[in-house]
Amino acid sequence: MTKKLYIKTYGCQMNAYDSVRMQDVMAPLGYSASDTPEGADLIILNTCHIREKAEEKVYSDLGRIRAEKESKKARGEKMLIAVGGCVGQAEGAEIIKRAPYVDMVLGPQSYHQLPEMVTRAIREGGGIVELDFPTVQKFDLLPEITSSQGAAAFLSVQEGCDKFCSFCVVPYTRGAEYSRTPQAIEAEARRLVDQGALEITLLGQNVNAYHGEQNGKTWSLADIIAQLAKINGLERIRYMTSHPRDMSDDLIAIHGAEPKLMPFLHLPVQSGSNEILKRMNRKHDREFYLDIIARLRKSRPDIAFSSDFIVGFPGESDRDFDDTMQLVEQVQYAQAYSFKYSPRPGTPAAVDDRQIAENIKNERLQRLQDLLRHQQTAFNESCVGRTMSVLLDRDGKHDGQLLGKSPYMQSVHVSAPEAFRGQLVDMRMTGAYLNSLAGEIIDNTNLRKAS
Ligand code: 5AD
Ligand code: SF4
Repeated sequence: MTKKLYIKTYGCQMNAYDSVRMQDVMAPLGYSASDTPEGADLIILNTCHIREKAEEKVYSDLGRIRAEKESKKARGEKMLIAVGGCVGQAEGAEIIKRAPYVDMVLGPQSYHQLPEMVTRAIREGGGIVELDFPTVQKFDLLPEITSSQGAAAFLSVQEGCDKFCSFCVVPYTRGAEYSRTPQAIEAEARRLVDQGALEITLLGQNVNAYHGEQNGKTWSLADIIAQLAKINGLERIRYMTSHPRDMSDDLIAIHGAEPKLMPFLHLPVQSGSNEILKRMNRKHDREFYLDIIARLRKSRPDIAFSSDFIVGFPGESDRDFDDTMQLVEQVQYAQAYSFKYSPRPGTPAAVDDRQIAENIKNERLQRLQDLLRHQQTAFNESCVGRTMSVLLDRDGKHDGQLLGKSPYMQSVHVSAPEAFRGQLVDMRMTGAYLNSLAGEIIDNTNLRKAS
């Protein structure tokens, strides 16, 4: 008998990828994917701990799921609830104390243990917590990936972070840096391509710190990209998220040398002030970052950039914030994410006594986002009239529309027949908005079948 598994994913792409792996690990036990929590036999919340808001969301969702569990119970049926991901790792058994209807808590390194945990939870009636960082890594213990991710797939190549930025929980929740072997990565990439992937995004919290070992040789991320680019049928490669410190010469060079590597890079700077960067323990200054940007542009002149910014870090003065605004003016981003600083328990910046008032954070965030929105619109407008190849992998907003991604990660919507789904199509850009472009198909001779 099949059982229903509902996984809700919060936060980053690493979590999205992990959710696919959890789905795969539970399939042999008869669990099939469900789009809704209603009537599910097992619910997994794959959580995010990066900012306070993300964590609050988990607890408010848990309240709703509890009601569902109780109504199932009234019908004489059982529902298991698991909290996974980074809130699971950070809070552990505290979650069950606060929400006793949660049966299992597990960290991101424990997903291979899910089947056993579920069996124990059924037998013991809940209270199962698994937070170890095993010496054997989860990727070696998980079954091969079997779920298709469609035309645009994720592949985790690296996990964890040794950088310890003073605001960030990741080194505590995801643990130390670990790189998968080049062999395992290539095998998984080939499977994804066989299942219809035309684009693969290589994932890692600190993806460009990748250093996998094979036959006594250490591979860099650039080596992996060069190797995957040889796979027939794989047309596009991306990677995220990178740290400026790890933008090595070979990685910068391959942006110019490998056409399958897309001309878009998410390279977080966090702040434009050297004083703040130092106190964030970012291990780079503003000049270093700007030099990397310049070298990448030299290597691949049309490369477009994205970044993360934090405003209102403890001690950030008006002048520090102006430095950030000025850096944004200098780089000209195609898109970016910006956040108010959110103190995270256990991180050094959370106990700094120079915390910034909420109204100042709000005002700075608004000014920064206005500027970033302006740059994003300008970038989108500069694309109108250009021809680009677009990977159409999703439904558009309206009937008869498909949505895809340009080489520069812009969403492009187009009126196109269903047959174009999952394909790379040459399109002319006809309109620009803040968050997307409109396009029209000019030529389908270049149409590459997804499978
Ligand atoms: N407060 C606000 N933003 C944060 N980020 C990480 N930790 C915090 C925090 N404590 C942001 C950073 C990072 C992105 C994933 O989340 O900008 O790059
Ligand atoms: Fe967090 Fe810094 Fe590591 Fe990124 S590099 S995951 S911001 S500690």
